[in-house]
Amino acid sequence: MKPIQVGLLGIGTVGSGVFNVLARNQDEISRRAGRGIEITMVADLDVARAKAVVGDGIQVVNDARAIIANPDIDIVIELIGGYGIARALVLEAIAAGKHVVTANKALLAVHGTEIFAAASAKGVMVAFEAAVAGGIPIIKALREGLTANRIQWIAGIINGTTNFILSEMRSKGLDFDVVLKEAQRLGYAEADPTFDIEGVDAAHKATIMSAIAFGIPVQFDKAYVEGITKLSAADIKYAEQLGYRIKLLGITKRAEKGIELRVHPSLVPSKRLIANVEGAMNAVVVQGDAVGTTLYYGKGAGSEPTASAVIADLVDIARLHTADPEHRVPHLAFQANTLQGAMD
Ligand code: HSE
Repeated sequence: MKPIQVGLLGIGTVGSGVFNVLARNQDEISRRAGRGIEITMVADLDVARAKAVVGDGIQVVNDARAIIANPDIDIVIELIGGYGIARALVLEAIAAGKHVVTANKALLAVHGTEIFAAASAKGVMVAFEAAVAGGIPIIKALREGLTANRIQWIAGIINGTTNFILSEMRSKGLDFDVVLKEAQRLGYAEADPTFDIEGVDAAHKATIMSAIAFGIPVQFDKAYVEGITKLSAADIKYAEQLGYRIKLLGITKRAEKGIELRVHPSLVPSKRLIANVEGAMNAVVVQGDAVGTTLYYGKGAGSEPTASAVIADLVDIARLHTADPEHRVPHLAFQANTLQGAMD
């Protein structure tokens, strides 16, 4: 069977990871997908940087629209980030009949309803495993492994930068600013670290999980969001003396009147597993009515962990792409507005 053809928009840290992991594990990935998966075009504003990663033999362009216009491309991977040009390109790719894989949590949390509706109308998939908790397959866990469950609540450490900062402040007694710089140097932080430290990035991810778990439209604007900037070293020390660790948690749960969605620093008893998730690691706890409590732990950021999730989506699409389009189901179906307004 002809390999599925992929166009990559943006070849920075994650894009390079995707390229390298696909090349290294090509045989296993093709076997699992049932066909080859080939990146045949890459778009990046820095063509020289892109060529240094992909070498010769792959077309590198600086115009993302050249990929969308190419009829041979089946899947577009969007790794540009942000709400602006990324939104336009994703909608254009869908309109051109391409499946889309994205790691862009901000885009989906804010414009997801529009994007999923466009994809559904066009009969293409928008897959986004990499958008939440990086390499942890939490989207697939919610949609597939736990699909029999009525989800009761989800609580997670879903921002590595802030978990790294809180861990270092606690264990080394370092100041917030010093640790933030280190997190940026290590490549955990967003381009604008405000999104990390003010809880916005975690809220984007919690919004996406909430939509999947509870079948509601993405409603980032309804989330309560509080970051870690008001925490002092003293708060962390006193919490520890009382037997707690302070963690920035993203929480979504069924409540009496609807669905709660919030991100804020939380006191977690030190003996709990999640209290001991340290450094830039992520962990998500999901409570389902049938399965009980489940815990997912791993790297929430970084080149290859995030690439691992992006490629899992490519494999999913490669499998479904061969299926009869008449019987293809939308990748993400909301229960039409059942809970709309529940978070008012
Ligand atoms: N800035 C994010 C984090 C990157 O620190 O978790 C992964 O989404």
